[in-house]
Amino acid sequence: MNRARQIQNLALIGFMGTGKSSVGQMVAASLHFTFLDTDHDIEVRAKKSIPDIFAQDGELAFREWERRIVQELTQRKKTVISTGGGLPADETNLASLKAHAFVVCLWASPEKILERVRYQTHRPLLYDPNPLAKIRRLLAAREPFYRQADVLLNTEMRSVREVAQQVIHQFKLAQGGG
Ligand code: S3P
Repeated sequence: MNRARQIQNLALIGFMGTGKSSVGQMVAASLHFTFLDTDHDIEVRAKKSIPDIFAQDGELAFREWERRIVQELTQRKKTVISTGGGLPADETNLASLKAHAFVVCLWASPEKILERVRYQTHRPLLYDPNPLAKIRRLLAAREPFYRQADVLLNTEMRSVREVAQQVIHQFKLAQGGG
């Protein structure tokens, strides 16, 4: 399977607040891979923050940035890619990631996600009078995509370090190592 897919990279997908960036940085350091965060990449290229992109250009413009970045990722090697929560909720983006990366989905319940993102202000999709309902709705819509990951990891009872260790373990297993 891996040979057909040409696994060169490791991609972390999953909802906002599941720890993709923190886990990804730790995994990259441990594997001596480059770390790339799609949200950060978009902010650098667009020269504005994600809330500003959503407010000034709209969500569709943001999704267009994501599609562009995903296409460029096919050239990467030895990179841990942390993706925005909505990026894999698009068949083309997901298929593209899976062609070159081992894909791990970090999971948490809506309640846990709310607990983690509650006091953060950089996620425009959660500027909502009822953020828990919004999280539930988005998570339900995205679940079929998240479930297509090679591995689904529950992050709820685990520290960032423990999740990172699990990700590395699964990645090595998939490559035929131990
Ligand atoms: C989004 C998640 C965010 C960011 C943007 C949209 C989403 O990334 O890409 O605010 O659609 O779930 P994180 O998952 O890193 O918070």
